[in-house]
Amino acid sequence: MAVQGHEDVWPRPKACRVISVANQKGGVGKTTTTVNIAAALAMHGQRVLVVDLDPQGNASTALGMERDSQTRSIYHCLVEDEEIRKLAQPVPDIPNLWCAPATIDLAGAEIELVSLVAREARLKRAFAAYDTTDLDYILIDCPPSLGLLTVNAMVACDEVMIPIQCEYYALEGLGQLLRNVELVKSHLNTGLSISTILLTMYDGRTRLSQQVAEEVRSHFGDLVLKTLVPRSVRVSEAPSYAQSVMTYDPTSTGAVAYLEAAREMAHRAEGISAG
Ligand SMILES: Nc1ncnc2c1ncn2[C@@H]1O[C@H](COP(=O)(O)OP(=O)(O)OP(=O)(O)O)[C@@H](O)[C@H]1O
Ligand SMILES: [Mg+2]
Repeated sequence: MAVQGHEDVWPRPKACRVISVANQKGGVGKTTTTVNIAAALAMHGQRVLVVDLDPQGNASTALGMERDSQTRSIYHCLVEDEEIRKLAQPVPDIPNLWCAPATIDLAGAEIELVSLVAREARLKRAFAAYDTTDLDYILIDCPPSLGLLTVNAMVACDEVMIPIQCEYYALEGLGQLLRNVELVKSHLNTGLSISTILLTMYDGRTRLSQQVAEEVRSHFGDLVLKTLVPRSVRVSEAPSYAQSVMTYDPTSTGAVAYLEAAREMAHRAEGISAG
């Protein structure tokens, strides 16, 4: 079962941690983070479900999900009350990791949801009907918007994880994301909090990357993981082989960073469940 070189088992959370990976800015590393943190956790004894809530379906692709016109996806769960258990598929080559895939139908869900009862709580309802005692983590990959899909993720989760790309416009739009989290918290999900910020695509050679990292740390303090994810070609190549970088090239700088970031998250579980 254990993947070579990664035999140590990390502490399991007392109850399943449901984490939305969100940032309405596009291309900041949400999907890469979701997929690789999930893979790293699964490789260290955690039982993990990735929910692909983005019509682009990038997380499903990166996790090797086979999809055709017959595939039941998270769309059917949101719009037709299909059970998650029936559509989650095991991820090839990574024991303990499952994915509830997205198909292109999901592109219409943002509009179809509008007319449904409790439209903001469809995913939460699906999770409630799902026995999560067999899981340690659910990671939800959000689309780059603050529409109903992302709201569904925020209503269904306990924690929000925000990947921030170390580039010039990194903090732009973040205020809007934080306000949305507050809105959902005050009206729809009082248990919600931002638990984790991860700096991605860090380039230590540039002053700009260092400045952004410093600025994010001074603003968000301990929410920011110590581990920075560097820019790494191997990270960007992995999805085209339908793999996470954790399996594609486990010794690459990107894989090592995601492993360390996942380790930090796993060891923070105690503090979070206590608070
Ligand atoms: N650490 C990294 N090093 C190099 N390339 C990276 C790294 N992280 C992500 N990328 C690449 O950057 C691009 C955007 O990443 P990703 O798809 O994870 O972002 P996203 O926030 O999910 O995007 P979207 O908003 O479109 O869903 C992808 O091509 C990905 O392979
Ligand atoms: Mg994405």
